Amino acid sequence: MSGHATFEPQNKYVKWFEDRLPILGLVHSSLVAFQTPRNLNYWWTFGGILFMFLMIQIITGVILAMHYIPHETLAFDSTEHILRNVNYGWLIRYMHANGASMFFFAVYIHMFRGFYYGSFKGPREGLWILGVIIYNLMMAAGFLGYVLPWGQMSFWAATVITNLFSAFPIIGEPIVHWLWGGYSVGQPTLNRFYSFHYLVPMILFVFVILHVWALHVVGNNNPTGISVKSKQDTLPFHPFYTIKDAYAIVAFLLIFVWFVFFNPNQLGHPDNYIPANPMVTPPHIVPEWYFLPFYAILRAVPDKLGGVLLMFGALAMLAVMPWLDRSKARSLTYRPIMAVFFWLFVIDALFLGWLGSQPAEGIYVIMSRLATAYYFLHFLIIMPLVSTFEKPRPRPESIMQSVLDKAGDASPAKEA
Ligand code: HEM
Repeated sequence: MSGHATFEPQNKYVKWFEDRLPILGLVHSSLVAFQTPRNLNYWWTFGGILFMFLMIQIITGVILAMHYIPHETLAFDSTEHILRNVNYGWLIRYMHANGASMFFFAVYIHMFRGFYYGSFKGPREGLWILGVIIYNLMMAAGFLGYVLPWGQMSFWAATVITNLFSAFPIIGEPIVHWLWGGYSVGQPTLNRFYSFHYLVPMILFVFVILHVWALHVVGNNNPTGISVKSKQDTLPFHPFYTIKDAYAIVAFLLIFVWFVFFNPNQLGHPDNYIPANPMVTPPHIVPEWYFLPFYAILRAVPDKLGGVLLMFGALAMLAVMPWLDRSKARSLTYRPIMAVFFWLFVIDALFLGWLGSQPAEGIYVIMSRLATAYYFLHFLIIMPLVSTFEKPRPRPESIMQSVLDKAGDASPAKEA
């Protein structure tokens, strides 16, 4: 049955509880009766998928923490011990490592969905910015976690990334030593990274609650980008979207378990199975795949400070997007010119990712510069200009109308 508009306790115990702490009513209004546009497609299931991965990461992470030892002489071995000796340790560790990759894969789809359908635009700017904060926290958690197994890539990634701060004049060097807790990446660094790797997801969790709260204030966008105008445009979240989300979650889990059970090291770097050695620098220090586009931007500039500023600038672009696109139409379905630029941007982002995995020399540097220039061009020139001059195609009058139009297209009556 579809959800009632208000929560009605079914027995006296629930009523007693609800009169004192109306938490079930809150859950009911957020996840059962919540009015959701009736035309959401599968791209809208990724919020739920992300929430599931957040849970998987927290649960597996807490279990790993029971066996992991944050000490430079024991960290690597304790990770191996988890894989080999702890009951189902291999499963927990591979779920956590591959879960991080899946989490990023899902968040990129979630973000690009927002780009395409204009979910970042008013009145959802706050929701979007909370998303950008979450994304940054995810990157922090991913980076901190990658250091913990204390393999070669862990050690050298920590060295490269913390060293970025040394690019800032005067304060740079003291900041780096302060981050390290010494004069090189070592025991104090590992210990504090462990502490922060535990803390950051807790902060992230709080921001996810705020994110979902903000969503419930402004409501979902939808593939047409048209605002909800009447009750006809919406459906209660349960059962219509609970079942759709559940289906998508199961489908996505199949990809996840394929990695966990059949190819658990595919997404990692083999060098991380070599214990950290400060005396041997790996020939190519590469971060995890989800950082690669930003890594390419960082290395595109010969100047270290310039590279760092550009990389942070690239992230800042996401936060100011709501004010760069001025079109009245949200969804790119009705903006054919901007839709072409959207796909060019997707190609540019993928290309940057590939460049990030290549050595920073010769033709790769030149291509990285071009792709970086295009990245900024997209946000700073193309978005404002196209949104000002492109005349959107006519949009349906309402969400309900768009659904009826689609149904009409497929009906035999229309074909006859
Ligand atoms: C842990 C990470 C995240 C979780 C658990 C999460 C959760 C959700 C959920 C449950 C929804 C509603 C369902 C849906 O639209 O898919 C949603 C919507 C949304 N999220 Fe996220 N999110 C996360 C990260 C992000 C990030 C990184 C961004 C952007 C930078 C973002 C931007 C948005 C926007 C704009 C919406 C509204 C979409 C619409 O209605 O069209 N989220 N999020």
